Amino acid sequence: MGNKQYTGEISNHKITILITGANGQLGSEIRQLSHNYSFYNFLFTSRDVLPIENSDVLNQFFEKQKIDYCINCAAYTAVDKAETEREKAFHINGDAAGNLAKVCFNHQSKLIHISTDYVYDGTKHLPLKEEDPVAPLNIYGLSKLKGEELVQGHYPGALIIRTSWVYSVYGNNFVKTMLRLFKEMESLNVVNDQLGCPTNGANLAGVIMKFIEGFENNNSYSGIVNYCNSGITTWFDFALTIKEFVNSSCVIHPVSTEQYPTPAKRPKYSVLDTSKIKTMLHIEIPDWKESLYKCLLTLQEI
Ligand SMILES: NC(=O)c1ccc[n+]([C@@H]2O[C@H](COP(=O)([O-])OP(=O)(O)OC[C@H]3O[C@@H](n4cnc5c(N)ncnc54)[C@H](OP(=O)(O)O)[C@@H]3O)[C@@H](O)[C@H]2O)c1
Repeated sequence: MGNKQYTGEISNHKITILITGANGQLGSEIRQLSHNYSFYNFLFTSRDVLPIENSDVLNQFFEKQKIDYCINCAAYTAVDKAETEREKAFHINGDAAGNLAKVCFNHQSKLIHISTDYVYDGTKHLPLKEEDPVAPLNIYGLSKLKGEELVQGHYPGALIIRTSWVYSVYGNNFVKTMLRLFKEMESLNVVNDQLGCPTNGANLAGVIMKFIEGFENNNSYSGIVNYCNSGITTWFDFALTIKEFVNSSCVIHPVSTEQYPTPAKRPKYSVLDTSKIKTMLHIEIPDWKESLYKCLLTLQEI
């Protein structure tokens, strides 16, 4: 495993990976994937055990055991609610993320932090590159951008992955909401003028583990990198694809953003350019429909 230099000492330290916010969608996907990586030691922690805003608790935790990698899946993700819970969103996505970065830096634990496409304003109509200007339209995006800045400020070597439209077999997400609504409603309206790309949480978890393998092979990664599945779609087309897969009779009407007002403004265009991550990890990225079908199949089996 890796090209570690032989030091003459026999070490029984197993590479230890801490996952914060582990009961969410992404944390649960990493937990599922961890079964393929039994040579690593995974520590899955939820908010009650490891609240990332609490420096004392974090420091005690990091002092007790050597954490080689920390994957920060902890976040305030209620995009609309954030409009009325600004302080809470900034506290968790901003200050607490920065706090975790400081602790990781002090304990020399490599930090992989997750951010969002909502840092962009959606006015560019070409896939968004990491260095493109950011100008969040909503509180959630602003709080996540603050988090990126604080993480980089406290830990310039941290790796930040921006992702978009995450869904999973686990937790709450658009796919599961659509499946529920198809059973409850005869028809529904879905926005058809916001372009983006869905991300299967299982694929994102796989990419995170690839980064860890790369680090273990003495590759060095830092800064911001984008990841989503490949292709472009709208929420309407996303919903229609789910409907067709489950053969639902629910009628879906395409509507404009103006016809479907939400507390938080969303970018009209948030397709991420993933060339950088493809080059960094030498990977092909699965098409969003192919990945969606896999998730839907698993959900049917449950
Ligand atoms: N979901 C998306 O569409 C999407 C899109 C782009 C980027 N992202 C980013 O991707 C990452 C993972 O998102 P996700 O979809 O897995 O989110 P999620 O399902 O909402 O999970 C977030 C987890 O963080 C926990 N948490 C909240 N505050 C915490 C704190 N102070 N300390 C420790 N844990 C805390 C939550 O616990 P409780 O349930 O107890 O609150 C929850 O288990 C986040 O950084 C998110 O911003 C998500």
